[in-house]
Amino acid sequence: MKIVGYRTFAIALLILNGAPCLGAAGGSTLPGTGSLAGTVTAAAPFRAAQVYARNAEKNLLYMVYTSGGRYRAINLMPGSYEVSVERRGFASKAWKVGIRAGETATLNFALKNADPAPRAKLPGPATITGYPGAATILDDVEFVASYDALYPPGPGRAVAEKTCMACHGVNFFPQRQWDRVQWSAAIDRMTRREGTVGIIVPPGKLSPKDRRLLVDYFADNFGPQVKKRALSTEAEVPLDEAALAKAMYIEYTMPSADPKARPRGQNPYFDNDGNVWTTDRGSPNGIVMLDPRTAAFKQFLLPEQGGPHGITVDAEGTVWWGENAGFKLGQLDPKSGKIVRHALDPSGFSGTRNGQDPIVDSKQNVWFTVIVGNKLGKMDRWTGRLEYWEPPTPNSYPYGIARDKDDNIWFSQFVQCRVARFDQRSQTITEFPVLTAYDDPWCLIRRLGVDSKGTVWYAVFSHGLIGRLDPATGQMKEYRIPAAFSQPYDVWPDREDNIWVSDAGMGGSLIRFDPRTEKFTFYPSPQRGDMPKIEITRDGAVWYNPRSAMRGAVGVLYPDTAGMKSFEARY
Ligand code: HEC
Repeated sequence: MKIVGYRTFAIALLILNGAPCLGAAGGSTLPGTGSLAGTVTAAAPFRAAQVYARNAEKNLLYMVYTSGGRYRAINLMPGSYEVSVERRGFASKAWKVGIRAGETATLNFALKNADPAPRAKLPGPATITGYPGAATILDDVEFVASYDALYPPGPGRAVAEKTCMACHGVNFFPQRQWDRVQWSAAIDRMTRREGTVGIIVPPGKLSPKDRRLLVDYFADNFGPQVKKRALSTEAEVPLDEAALAKAMYIEYTMPSADPKARPRGQNPYFDNDGNVWTTDRGSPNGIVMLDPRTAAFKQFLLPEQGGPHGITVDAEGTVWWGENAGFKLGQLDPKSGKIVRHALDPSGFSGTRNGQDPIVDSKQNVWFTVIVGNKLGKMDRWTGRLEYWEPPTPNSYPYGIARDKDDNIWFSQFVQCRVARFDQRSQTITEFPVLTAYDDPWCLIRRLGVDSKGTVWYAVFSHGLIGRLDPATGQMKEYRIPAAFSQPYDVWPDREDNIWVSDAGMGGSLIRFDPRTEKFTFYPSPQRGDMPKIEITRDGAVWYNPRSAMRGAVGVLYPDTAGMKSFEARY
């Protein structure tokens, strides 16, 4: 056992437990794995430091939290690891340690001097400093600690907040150094039907007066004369060490056919054999299968940039995905590797269209949202026939999609802040404007989910809220997520009807909401970024892709590692 390290501000001690025992060691629940445990001490008090164990050979990253200064990671696949610990205010060097099946390695960290937050270091953990918003942070930015300093208050800021930052967060605009002409063109791009994006700020939402204010505000504060900047704040998400002590993340780094490219996983989905499928929106793009038992990936490249987005697997194991560049529905037979991409281009509607997220219903028909084009679509699984329905509200951006126990298809209307139900029997769409929309028509809903009782859950991305709708009574209730700059993206139930939320605010967290106690528990993510879709196994493991993070990956959170029965993922 060799350990390599540097004596700068961190001292790590490695002790290999003398008495290796057979089978699962140190709390491991899976045979053939090992574990890692130890303590972290630092010059200043801290809570829930993030301990990273990276296995470069297998492209695996494990992350656990400290509780009372102790940590434990279990079920580590044997091999050589680099271990480091990071928290706001400090970060250790990486120390090498070998993990062997049936053994526990011990690594104690004594962090002498509080290192100032290494904020520009990338890829970084979520919570080294509070990065609100999920925009990728460039290397050469200057960090500003105050929101008011970055965004001087005034009427221009108010327009920017509701018109642009509700989607783009706080770190997108200050990293651009554009003049008036460039800012004006950027606004046009969002308000006119051009390229793939369509009208994202619908007519009537930006008056000529507000447009002028916006151009002035962006050009004055984010012009070529100003440095590239981003916000780092002292704000924190709530941390419950007792809950975090039980939790562990694993990220499987995605491969790319081009070693210089950054893969970008978008949505995960499980097949019937315990594998996880993901769309890769990087360049080159494709469909990827992870076998979590071996950490091996299989890649299926698309012949061109199609913009694969949502993904699902039907009862026969056929993989389906939506493409939002070319308006296609992809179909893959995993056994033969054969890919068919169905053009979703019936006559009758024009303009740009995106095939967003597919799901299958109980008869295995494929349903999908058409985000630009304002439609709900269906492909008959057996005849290939396409049908479309248009919700009553124009330009609504149908996005997230879910099925309830009665085979109704639910979808969110992103820029009009509604949820809608399509009733397959009556063939009608019913829209439900959510509570926030009554107060603020600018609100945005990315996704929704339906729990086992038929209650519909939605995430108000722009306002840091989640809400519930009882479709039988129309009653709604909303809950504020207790974190600054919260950006809830997906909202999805587990088997016990706990509601899980993926939140990009403050660096990114998966959050469990217990509807019975109305309590939120935060699990800060290994990498800073957003997690646009979550899928949950029958054992309560929460799978996601860290989409905007520096390392494209397929990730999973085990909220309680004691319940880990396998690496595989099954509904
Ligand atoms: C409803 C969400 C939403 C709102 C509101 C919104 N945008 Fe966007 N914006 C997007 C999306 C999605 C894209 C990516 C579009 C694409 O790839 O074609 C984008 C792309 C952009 C880009 C191009 C990014 C790049 O570097 O390629 C700019 C610039 C931009 N938006 C500026 C703005 C401005 C300015 C506003 C306010 C007037 C605004 N956006 C409002 C969702 C939004």
